Amino acid sequence: MLEEVRRGQKFQLMEFTSNRVSFVFLFWFVFVSPLVRCQLYYNFYDTTCPNLTGIVRYNVWSAMAKDLRIAASLLRLHFHDCFVIGCEASVLLDDTDTLKGEKNALPNKNSLRGFEVIDTIKAALEKACPSTVSCADILTLAAREAVYLSKGPFWSVPLGRRDGTTASESEANNLPSPFEPLENITAKFISKGLEKKDVAVLSGAHTFGFAQCFTFKPRLFNFGGSGKSDPTIDASLLQNLVKLCPNQDDSDTNLAPLDRVTTNTFDNMYYTNIMNNSALLQSDQALLGDSTTASLVNYYRKWTVMFFRDFAVSMEKMGRIGVLTGSQGQIRTNCRAVN
Ligand code: HEM
Ligand SMILES: *[C@@H]1O[C@H](CO)[C@@H](O)[C@H](O)[C@H]1NC(C)=O
Ligand SMILES: *[C@@H]1O[C@H](CO)[C@@H](O)[C@H](O)[C@H]1NC(C)=O
Ligand SMILES: *[C@@H]1O[C@H](CO)[C@@H](O)[C@H](O)[C@H]1NC(C)=O
Repeated sequence: MLEEVRRGQKFQLMEFTSNRVSFVFLFWFVFVSPLVRCQLYYNFYDTTCPNLTGIVRYNVWSAMAKDLRIAASLLRLHFHDCFVIGCEASVLLDDTDTLKGEKNALPNKNSLRGFEVIDTIKAALEKACPSTVSCADILTLAAREAVYLSKGPFWSVPLGRRDGTTASESEANNLPSPFEPLENITAKFISKGLEKKDVAVLSGAHTFGFAQCFTFKPRLFNFGGSGKSDPTIDASLLQNLVKLCPNQDDSDTNLAPLDRVTTNTFDNMYYTNIMNNSALLQSDQALLGDSTTASLVNYYRKWTVMFFRDFAVSMEKMGRIGVLTGSQGQIRTNCRAVN
């Protein structure tokens, strides 16, 4: 008899527990999981760091007052962050005994710039709102400010990214290369959840900033192994580039503007240059060799507003690649090191 009562209680208890489990699961499934899926929020720091935008903008502006090119460098930093693991600030990590960073990867080494600006912004934010704003969000906002302050478009940035605790040098070595055909670059964009259109749109970032001679030298002296220059390159541009980058190794790190017409301005001149056979990188000029991207080039050349609108859309897409949210990752206090 007593035995039966005990068994009954045990049974009731089990039923209660399993009901509660299914209730919690249902609650999570109906109310929480949609939030987990659209993980980023436009007002994420509104109460915890109200002057975030002001602080980022001021520091990007003051870095640009010393060096206009830094705007382009900051935008590229965000791209190289997002395409490796995701937008989780792995690109900022320094090497340690236990962690190999991405700064020595081929596309990054002696090439990426702007780390000190991110450090300055982080220091200002740690004063204003300690342990609150992730380095990944700082990179995303700095990229937006860099474009905006270079006379480009402004767009709202969804926030709430968290910082990763790992890095991948091998994935960084696999970033799109200027020597790859368009199909390969497109495949890399698609593998990140982007599309062919995003290649044409985001490459428009090459409307400002600089590239080292070695990134386009084969076009000047040994195009496709021919021992000759790229026959499509504009004659006057070719002449200038050969002067800037003579055919010897010690010219490899000389700098050429990606857009020789409006070098420091974020506009649609990149697309005009392509139409004029005056793009700097082979991967830029290659956008004319595919009907989808060629028609986008022609469209953006004519319509700045459409380029600006689409650039903002593609930047938001890129800014969502592989983000960490909620309780994933951490908020670094120093962007160069895991806490
Ligand atoms: C589509 C494939 C891409 C390739 C093959 C590529 C390649 C390159 C190369 C080779 C350089 C010169 C680096 C150096 O000489 O040190 C460069 C610079 C730059 N890239 Fe790209 N890039 C690509 C896409 C992007 C994207 C998606 C963005 C940003 C949205 C971007 C933004 C920039 C900027 C702003 C610079 C100038 C940086 C500076 O002056 O410091 N690029 N890119
Ligand atoms: C926000 O930060 C900027 C840059 O430090 C500063 O100039 C501005 O006065 C601040 N605004 C407020 C409301 O604190
Ligand atoms: C392009 O991708 C193909 C297939 O993955 C590969 O075999 C080829 O080596 C790549 N080309 C270049 C120039 O990277
Ligand atoms: C592009 O080429 C056309 C025709 O050669 C020329 O009229 C125009 O000025 C060029 N545009 C720029 C911005 O160089």
